[in-house]
Amino acid sequence: MTLARLFAFALIFLAAPVAAQTVQQAAPSAQAVASVDSPSHVLHVEVTLNPEGRVGYRVTRLGKPVIDDSRLGFLFTDAPEMLRNFAFAGLSTATSDSSWDEPWGEYRTIRNHYNELTVTFAETSALKRRMSIEFRVYDDGIGFRYDIPRQPNLTQANIADELTEFAIAEPGTAWWDDAQEWNREEYLYRRTPVEEVGFAQTPLTIRTASGLHLSIHEAALVDYSGMDLRRVQGRVFKANLMPSSTGPKVTRDAPFTTPWRVIMIAPDAPALYKSAQIILNLNEPNKLGDVSWVKPMKYVGIWWAMHLDQATWNSGPKHGATTANAERYIDFAAANGFKGVLVEGWNKGWDGPWFGNGSDFSFTQWYPDFDLPAVAAYAKAKGIALIGHHETAGNIANYEKQMGPAFDLYQRLGIHNVKTGYVADAGGIQALGPDGKIHFEWHQGQVMVRHHLKVITEAAKRHITVDAHEPVKDTGLRRTYPNWVSREGERGMEYNAWGVPKNPPEHEANLVFTRMLSGPMDFTPGVLSLMGKGNTPILSTLAKQLALYVVIYSPIQMAADLPENYAANPAAFQFIKDVAVDWDDSRMLAGEVGDLAVFARKARGSPEWFLGAVGDEQERRFDVSLGFLQPGRRYEAQIYRDGDDADYRTNPRSIVIEKRIVTSTDRLAERIAPGGGTAVRFVPIAR
Ligand code: NOJ
Ligand code: CA
Repeated sequence: MTLARLFAFALIFLAAPVAAQTVQQAAPSAQAVASVDSPSHVLHVEVTLNPEGRVGYRVTRLGKPVIDDSRLGFLFTDAPEMLRNFAFAGLSTATSDSSWDEPWGEYRTIRNHYNELTVTFAETSALKRRMSIEFRVYDDGIGFRYDIPRQPNLTQANIADELTEFAIAEPGTAWWDDAQEWNREEYLYRRTPVEEVGFAQTPLTIRTASGLHLSIHEAALVDYSGMDLRRVQGRVFKANLMPSSTGPKVTRDAPFTTPWRVIMIAPDAPALYKSAQIILNLNEPNKLGDVSWVKPMKYVGIWWAMHLDQATWNSGPKHGATTANAERYIDFAAANGFKGVLVEGWNKGWDGPWFGNGSDFSFTQWYPDFDLPAVAAYAKAKGIALIGHHETAGNIANYEKQMGPAFDLYQRLGIHNVKTGYVADAGGIQALGPDGKIHFEWHQGQVMVRHHLKVITEAAKRHITVDAHEPVKDTGLRRTYPNWVSREGERGMEYNAWGVPKNPPEHEANLVFTRMLSGPMDFTPGVLSLMGKGNTPILSTLAKQLALYVVIYSPIQMAADLPENYAANPAAFQFIKDVAVDWDDSRMLAGEVGDLAVFARKARGSPEWFLGAVGDEQERRFDVSLGFLQPGRRYEAQIYRDGDDADYRTNPRSIVIEKRIVTSTDRLAERIAPGGGTAVRFVPIAR
């Protein structure tokens, strides 16, 4: 933290507002009461009051409107709304410029440089309630949150919804996926004009007519309900919190702060990707102390065979999680340099209709053909970390009952990682209510937000990392709890096994600029057979499967395919064995939302660099400077590119693997086939 110092802000308007007497047809014009600039004066935020005493904000970038005047406020289930009749009641400012190190991540060091403005408002009407809005303004985005102080007329906030708006100033194109539908967060992205967005999840990404790139998301989602965005008219989006079974979408005792509402604002697509550092910066620093026990790694597992229907989670002749099979995977991992082995279907409870039910799951009892202590000892002897599995099927009542003993068991056996799962339709989470009854909740509602943090902190006590599937969205809490290593939260590779439709070729070029802005994804790449269930083709070339290890960030990366498919593709498999998972630096060298993403990443604590590029269904080309390499040093570039005749429809396996000597003054120009990609490892040559 640096010292607070003065910076540009203006106190412009202090008059008490006039209470609204009539229904307004057009929004009355709002006046700025205070403003703040980003550190290099790129962004400018004004906090406003209109003649009704309605609080709002607006944002410009280099003088041009980005967010037009947008309302702020709350609806309650048991009290009048907080929206109008506010008067300015004070402000404070601060500035901060510091850096912090990620224990693992895409960057070693992250700079946190912002100007802060907090404006307090008080109602002039009978209840005289108060709220402050706290803005942190960076050069490439803003965060703001509500701060509700302790006060007599708002001791408990039962929030029916937030009234927060985001009025997009310019027309543009939006990339978005449906919110609050039955399949949770796992929808394909749509690309529409902003005015045709319906009800969207965050991050919601927009490229405006002038080429600005915006994305709206949230940071530090703690003890609150996740935010979706409903387009209410024109280009105005309104926060829509996830529902709860009890009525209010959020219940909090004052004082409290809401999660940060974040708008990333960048001049182009690569800068948008980098601007997502704001999400981490808006979270609290690490609360776990020494987290050297959190180890990024590549892993394999008893997993894809089930998705192909070649093995089962449940007991029986095709049971995947047998002792012998687990030992086979451990041997395979040890022989090929992988550090982890995931075993799904090890525990009792998979035999009935488990989906969305989960009441039979035991997290401490293993199937008779799987000897958990013996497998754990075998893994340990081979230097392999077992990754445990807790599929809850959304029945957190059943899980929370067993969580302590379940984590104790793993700790006793030296198992330091767990993959959790919440396979249930949206709204199908079963949680124990305060009345002792089961209530049905949403995956991103306040109950689940609390649940996930409980899992994370209970796991942390036993030095266990968590990778959640069907999770709550990532809002940067991995900074505060670095054992929260990864999660799913979008369509991953499994859709290429059984999905209808499968992931289209543009899926990952969409993900990079949407879902990936929120944080790591356990996408599980590397299916070199290029085949899903029943030998149905995956819509990808071979080279693209390799590129995904660099493009889709996660500190734990699975080599998802069956061992025999890796044995059948040794040359391509070499890249999966070589690629790093933890990085000192990450740079997007070229990118366009939904079309192309080219990344260079420097392996953590190593002089090696990796490049990964993915395109979409069209042929794409890139031509990038290798200026990221250390000047004056020669590197062997081990290139895995689409063959000249490669095409995901006709010739997906065509790949060229070649070596070139390069330096930082060279460029790399490649063709990406339709549905293709490029993967490169840069190894310094001894001088
Ligand atoms: C869905 C998860 O995404 C997948 O990875 C897992 O294998 C199944 N649930 C079963 O838990
Ligand atoms: Ca495209």
